[in-house]
Amino acid sequence: MFCKIWVTSALCAVALSAPTLTYSPGAAERPAEMQILSEYFSMLGQKVQAGRNMAAAPVCNMNSAVLPVASPTPLPAVSTGLSLKHVAIGRGTQNYSCTTGNQTAAPVALGAVATLYNATCVASTYPDLLSILPNVALQFNLTSPNQASLSPSNLAISGHHFFSNATTPDFNLNTAAMNLGFAPCAKNNTVPAPATAPKGQGGVGNGAVPWLKLITKDGATGNLEEIYRVNTAGGQPPATCAGMPTTFEVQYASEYWFFEKL
Ligand SMILES: *[C@@H]1O[C@H](CO)[C@@H](O)[C@H](O)[C@H]1NC(C)=O
Ligand SMILES: *[C@@H]1O[C@H](CO)[C@@H](O)[C@H](O)[C@H]1NC(C)=O
Ligand SMILES: *[C@@H]1O[C@H](CO)[C@@H](O)[C@H](O)[C@H]1NC(C)=O
Ligand SMILES: *[C@@H]1O[C@H](CO)[C@@H](O)[C@H](O)[C@H]1NC(C)=O
Ligand SMILES: *[C@@H]1O[C@H](CO)[C@@H](O)[C@H](O)[C@H]1NC(C)=O
Ligand SMILES: *[C@@H]1O[C@H](CO)[C@@H](O)[C@H](O)[C@H]1NC(C)=O
Repeated sequence: MFCKIWVTSALCAVALSAPTLTYSPGAAERPAEMQILSEYFSMLGQKVQAGRNMAAAPVCNMNSAVLPVASPTPLPAVSTGLSLKHVAIGRGTQNYSCTTGNQTAAPVALGAVATLYNATCVASTYPDLLSILPNVALQFNLTSPNQASLSPSNLAISGHHFFSNATTPDFNLNTAAMNLGFAPCAKNNTVPAPATAPKGQGGVGNGAVPWLKLITKDGATGNLEEIYRVNTAGGQPPATCAGMPTTFEVQYASEYWFFEKL
C-alpha cells in the first residue's frame, strides 16, 4: 500500500501522468513522431517501475539539477553567486521574414513566441526524461498560448516568452500560480545546437535553433540574472528565402534554465 501511494505521489511531484492527447490526425502515418512518443512513454514507464524499487521517494531538490553543457563548444558558465530558480520547457514558434524579394537571401529572425511549462522537478529528478521533452513537446502544437499543460505531459504553465523589440527577448514568469519574476534580456553568447539535435516535427525540418546564454536587462524582477536556452528542437528557417512568404513561423521547443541572485 505504501508503494502504491508513493508511486502516485512521485508522479504527482513531477507532474507527469496519463495525458489527454490532442494529437494531430494522420500521426500514425508519421513513423518518426510515433518513435519519439514511444521512447517517451517507455521512459515514463521505466520511471514508475524504478520508483517501485527505490527505498525513498525522490525529492524535488533543485540542487541536484545540472545545466546541460553544449558540445563541442560550451556556453560561458553561470556566473558565480547565482542559483537555479526555475526550469521550463518552452513550446512555440520562431518567426522569420523574407521581405526583400531576394530569393537567395537568408530569412531574418523576427523573434519568438512560446509558452513556458514548469519542468523544475523533472530537471532535478529525471534529467534524461527532461532532455527528450523538447522533442516530444515539438510533436504537439499548442491549441492556444494559454494551454494549461504541455501535451503529452501534465507540466503546468509557468509563463510566457516573447520579444518586446527585435533585440529584447522577454520572459514573464508571473502567473496566477507563481510569481517568479519578469526578465527582459540581451543575448550574451550563442553556440550551434549539437548535430544530433531534433530538426523539426516528425524529424523533418531545417534543424534546431542555437543554444543561448541571455543576461537580464534593467527592469528585471524576481532577482532573475541569467537565462540559458539548451536542448533545443526545431525552429531553424530554410537557408534561403526561395519560395518563402514575407513572414513565416517555424515550430520549436526548448529547455530554459533561469538563475537568480539571492
Ligand atoms: C503545427 O502547426 C503548423 C502550422 O503552424 C502545421 O504546419 C503543422 O502541420 C502542425 N503540426 C502538427 C503536428 O499538428
Ligand atoms: C515549479 O517551479 C517552481 C519554481 O522553480 C518549483 O519550486 C516547483 O517545484 C516546480 N514544480 C514542478 C512540479 O516542477
Ligand atoms: C541577395 O542576397 C544575397 C545573399 O545575401 C546577396 O549576395 C545578393 O547581393 C542579394 N541580391 C540583391 C539584388 O540584393
Ligand atoms: C510570431 O508569430 C505569432 C503567431 O502568428 C504572432 O502572434 C507574433 O506576433 C509573431 N511575432 C513576431 C515577433 O513576429
Ligand atoms: C528594446 O526594448 C528595451 C527594453 O524594453 C529597450 O531598453 C531598448 O531601448 C529597446 N530597443 C529598441 C531598438 O527599441
Ligand atoms: C557576456 O558576459 C560576460 C560576463 O558577464 C561579459 O564579460 C561579456 O562581455 C558578455 N558578452 C556579450 C557579447 O555580451
